Parts: sequence; C-alpha cells; structure tokens
Amino acid sequence: MQTTVGIIGAGPAGLLLARLLRNAGIDSVTLESRDRAYVEDRQRAGILEQGTVDALRSAGVAERMDRAGMVHDGIELRFDRSTHRLDFPALTGGRSVMVYAQTEVVKDLISRQLTGGIPLLFEAQVRSVEGADTDQPLVRYLHEGREKTLTCDYVVGCDGFHGVTRNAVPESVRTTYERSYPYSWLGILAQAPPVYDELIYTHSERGFALASMRSPAVSRLYLQVPNGTDPTDWPDGRVWDELDARFAVDTDPGWKLERGHVSSKAVLPMRSSVTEPMRFGSVFLAGDAAHIVPPTGAKGLNLAVSDVIVLARALIHEQNSGSTELLDAYSDTCLRRVWRAEHFSYSMTTMLHKDPAQSAFDTRLQLSQLHRVVNSRHAAAELAENYTGLPIG
Ligand code: APR
Ligand code: PHB
Repeated sequence: MQTTVGIIGAGPAGLLLARLLRNAGIDSVTLESRDRAYVEDRQRAGILEQGTVDALRSAGVAERMDRAGMVHDGIELRFDRSTHRLDFPALTGGRSVMVYAQTEVVKDLISRQLTGGIPLLFEAQVRSVEGADTDQPLVRYLHEGREKTLTCDYVVGCDGFHGVTRNAVPESVRTTYERSYPYSWLGILAQAPPVYDELIYTHSERGFALASMRSPAVSRLYLQVPNGTDPTDWPDGRVWDELDARFAVDTDPGWKLERGHVSSKAVLPMRSSVTEPMRFGSVFLAGDAAHIVPPTGAKGLNLAVSDVIVLARALIHEQNSGSTELLDAYSDTCLRRVWRAEHFSYSMTTMLHKDPAQSAFDTRLQLSQLHRVVNSRHAAAELAENYTGLPIG
C-alpha cells in the first residue's frame, strides 16, 4: 500500500489529522492497533479549550459536540474549607471551555472518517517505521494475521505514550525530559448529577479532589491516592465518604454529594514527559507520542489537537507551494506551546496535591499561592488564560 501521509494511531491526534488533510485534498492512511469498540470506550479527560472547539467546528466534526457539550465560563477552587470562583470570560477577554468527553470526540471523528471514505484500519498493529532519513519512509504492520507494508511521503506517529514511532528517531538525536509525581488519581464515573454546574478543584488536608461531569446526569470524580493504589481497596462507599470529606466547606457543614451507581473505577498515574525533537527527517510525532502531562489542567487532548493543526497547516503549505519552511519549523513551533502546557500542568498539580513528603511549611506555600490566585486579578488571569488555552502556532 502507498499513501502521502501514513498516520499511526487513531486517538484524537491521528483522527483529526486525517480529517484536516482530507479537507485539503491530501490522502492518508491511518493504522490503529486496537479494535473500534476499545478505542471508542476509553475513558479520558473532557475539557476542550476554545481553540480545540474552533478546530473541531472548522473541520466539520462538531455537530454532536454543539448539541451535547456544555460551555463552562469558570471553575471553582476550594481550599481552607472555603470556595472561590474564577470567571474565565471576565479574566481572558471572553474565552471559555467546553465540557465534552474525549471519548465522544473520538466517536465523532471515527464515524465521520468511515462515512467519508478515509482509509482507517483497526487491529493493524505497527511493528516499525523505517527510513525516517529518506523521502519514502516505510511502515511495517500486522493486519489480518499477515505482515504488510505502507510506503509514504511522510509518517506521523500519533501512537500515544507507548507507541513505536518514537523509536524511528535515532537515540543519538532524541532527548526525553521526564518527571513523575508521588501520587495518582482514582477516577470514577457515576450515574449521579454533577456536584455543581462547574468543575471544582479542591486542595484539602486529606489530599486533592476534582468534581467534573460528563452530562447533567453523569459525574466524573477524582481523588488523589498514593501511587500503587489498588482500586479494589476503594469500595464505592469509601470513595463517596472521602469525596464528602475533601469537598467539605464551613459555609454548608451538612453538605454531601448526591451518590449514584459507579460504572467505572480506575487508578491513573501522574507523569510529565517531553521528547525532543518532534520531527526527524520524514517522520513527525504528535500528541501523547511526543509529550504527556499530568491531568490536572486537562491539557493532554488540547495539546494533541494543537500539534496536528500546526502539522496539517505545514503539510498543506508544502503541498501547495513546495516550501518546507513550516514543516522545518514544526518541532520548535509545537514545543513552545508544549512546554507552556507542561509548566501549567505542573503548577496546577503541585499547587493542589498533597505530596507525602510535604511539610507544614510547604502546605502554607500552597495556600499562599491559592489565596493569591483568587485575590489578584493578575494571578487569576494567568491561570484562566492557560486553562482556556493560549493561541495555537
Ligand atoms: N500501532 C498502531 N496503533 C498504535 C500503536 C501501534 N504500534 N501503538 C499505539 N497505538 C494507538 C493506540 O491504540 C491509541 O489508539 O495509538 C493511539 C494513540 O491515541 P491516544 O493515546 O489517545 O493519543 P493521542 O491521539 O495523542 O491523544 C492524546 O489522549 O491519553 C490522552 O490525555 C491524553 O487526552 C490526551 C490524548
Ligand atoms: C475530566 O472531566 O475528566 C477532567 C476534567 C478536568 C481535569 C481533568 C479531567 O483537569
């Protein structure tokens, strides 16, 4: 098989890239190792920055998002048993975010891909990418029990943190910068109305908690837990009791969350990682294949989207003008935004979580920073601008 752009991985990065290229008349083939049901059912985050929303609309895949997504104009920060709201449009000159699950974005992109006839193969596991330093890179993959090859002009690794494309960049030119955190998240999906009509990020003596949502009837809730936590040590009753304790505020002492059936429960590790450069010869990396963030600022999906917007623009420019100027700038252009998001995710994470080695001094510093964020317009605007998303490219 032969194509212009070989895309590895059908997460949001790969799927949106294929769509953007198709809209510009550039052909691609996407290879995904899992089956369709698995890809569509994965539980991930659910906050879309304004730029992500705009990109999905202009790509023509926003119809269901515009019906079911919920526009949020702010978040709550809870600490010291009191609650404070940040008003995003007021702080950013009109920007807000959309609450719409990544898994729904993926379903919308897949159904559009398949009805639009863009080649997308499920259960096609890529084994290796060869010839990154040539102008005809080759992808070897297993499909229907046979080893096959895909010859391309460009290969884009959208194959996530555990993907194989990164290995096509020789170790001598590749650097990975990493940080892991001494805590994880226990996430649940519950058939219970959201705690409040916006997200609540809570700093408490007992650790971090986050109340998010998937719809007016479904809550997505997270608790900070120690690394290595076994979810079976957290029966539903224990999760709800702990959420009640962490979200408690003095102004409403008897307040409790409305409980409901818990349909999923999992522990997520917290890690930051960036691989540089994001391009080697005719091979590009995008999304989680190049970088991951801890989930505290919900930047993962949004970074994947901004990478492929920059890349699609560059590939289209090359196709139309013959100039590789934007392709040559791809890695540097993306990495500036990636490192900003890494810093933001790191600051949100360390401001809100309780490190097991934390001293009382460290806790006072966290509280001082939280007070600053809710009392200074400048500090609040800095958080709001990062949260709602900085310009792409
Ligand atoms: N061959 C083919 N496909 C592969 C291979 C392989 N060898 N290895 C991985 N994949 C597929 C995975 O099965 C997955 O569907 O690549 C896809 C990568 O998708 P994501 O992990 O969703 O990554 P990305 O598209 O970059 O989206 C980033 O996902 O992890 C979240 O928080 C993150 O929200 C962010 C978003
Ligand atoms: C989610 O809804 O899953 C979510 C929301 C905000 C975050 C992280 C996850 O910061």
